[in-house]
Order: sequence, then structure tokens, then C-alpha cells
Amino acid sequence: MTVSIKNEEQQDKMRVAGRLAADVLDMIGDYVKPGVTTEELDRICHEYITDVQGAVPAPLNYRGFPKSICTSVNHVVCHGIPGEKKLKSGDAVNIDITVIKDGFHGDTSRMFFVGKPSIQAQRLSEIAFESMWLGIRELAPGKHLGDVGAAVQRHVEKHRFSIVREYCGHGIGQAFHEEPQVLHYGRSGTGLELREGMTMTIEPMVNAGKANVKLLPDGWTVVTKDHSLSAQWEHTVLVTRDGYEVLTLGADDR
Ligand code: MF3
Ligand code: CO
Ligand code: CO
Repeated sequence: MTVSIKNEEQQDKMRVAGRLAADVLDMIGDYVKPGVTTEELDRICHEYITDVQGAVPAPLNYRGFPKSICTSVNHVVCHGIPGEKKLKSGDAVNIDITVIKDGFHGDTSRMFFVGKPSIQAQRLSEIAFESMWLGIRELAPGKHLGDVGAAVQRHVEKHRFSIVREYCGHGIGQAFHEEPQVLHYGRSGTGLELREGMTMTIEPMVNAGKANVKLLPDGWTVVTKDHSLSAQWEHTVLVTRDGYEVLTLGADDR
């Protein structure tokens, strides 16, 4: 297994890409309203990324993915393809943005609610968010990937939700998906030892029901097998000398 270590110059490029990806999420929030289609959200993000940021939307044509962003609504776990269906009040949608700037990738996603969410959707999103942060806080040189997975899993299962196993976080840099795989479950002290200069994503997918998922015939859309709600948050992070730096913080968090 070869995990790339980013030098200072590469780390700076990751900071730029990460910030741009977060800026897209900051920008799109106002458009997530009843009646908007996910295709419209895709178009707005695409134009912002290409025309305003001078960047490239990484999903477009990635292994044949047809759009520039992923929009995963309600029981869609991840990789939802933007389409002509209108969002309605009560929907919960994950918007996942990956941009390439100067050859480097920034990858981040957040949950958005259309109108007023159900208590359950709110709770699920909150636990997914907290579990992502608990995973991130484990990061430091000398720690192991299993520490991250265990922290995420512990929190999710304590609240009787489940962690999706088939999809995980990933190393990121000049490639969209690099080694290592960052599992959102596991045992502390096991797995790859972290080193300064590694960049990766933490992006737990949390289901209200069972962990099982299935892939729709479009070859991309992943849904919960029991059609329960699913939530996800994602940050791109850098392992630093004494811990971590989150590269995809929104404007309100930096
Ligand atoms: N952004 C997703 C991730 O977090 C990957 C999307 S791949 C795509 O890894 F092709 F669906 F865009
Ligand atoms: Co990712
Ligand atoms: Co992503």
C-alpha cells in the first residue's frame, strides 16, 4: 500500500482546492428550497465551479458519472445523480462537491433540509455530523486509521443508527480517490499508522435502519435496502505535525 505524503507546496494546493469545494456548499445553500430540482442545483454548482472559481467539477465524467455534483435525497445513501425531480418540504439532501484546482482535489459534503425536517431526519444528520468530527479528532501522526473508524462507529451505534460498510473515506490529492481506504468502523490501534502530510476524507454514511445498501440499475445511486433514511457529512483533512487541519471548513467555521 502506498499512501502519498504531500509536501508543503502540495499541501497549499490542497488548502486551495478544499476551500473552493467548501465555498460551493456555502453558495448553494440558499437554493435548496421546495420546488427546485437537483438538476438545477447541479447546473448552478457547475457554473460556479467553472466560471467563478476557474476550477473543474471532479465528478463530471468520472468513471462515467454524468453530472458535476452528487445529490442524495432521503433514503439515497450516496452518489445520487441530479435529475428533474423537484425537492419538497421535509426532504433531506446531501450535496457532495469535489473540485479540482491546479491539479489537486477538494471533497466535501453536507446535509441540507428542504423546509422543515422531521425530528428523525434532524437527529440522524446530527449524529452523522458528530461522528464525522469524532473521527477527525482522532487524527495525528502515530495514530491509526482504526482509531478513526472506531470513534465514528462507537458514536453511531450508541445512538442505534448504523454505519454503511460498502463505502468509505479515502486518500485524496492529485487523484480523486487514493489510498488508503478510510473505514468508518473498526478497532482502535489497528490499521495504517498516520503520518504528517497525509490527506484524506472522513465521510461517514449513517442509516436510520439497517446498514445494508443496494445499488440501483443506473449503476451509481446507492440506497438503503430497507428504504430507511440515510445521512452523510464529509471533510477533507490534512494530518499535521501535532494533529490535523480540516481543509474544507465553511466560511462560518474558519
Ligand atoms: N464525492 C464522492 C466521494 O466522497 C465521490 C463521488 S464519485 C462520483 O468520494 F462519480 F459519483 F461523483
Ligand atoms: Co470523498
Ligand atoms: Co465527496
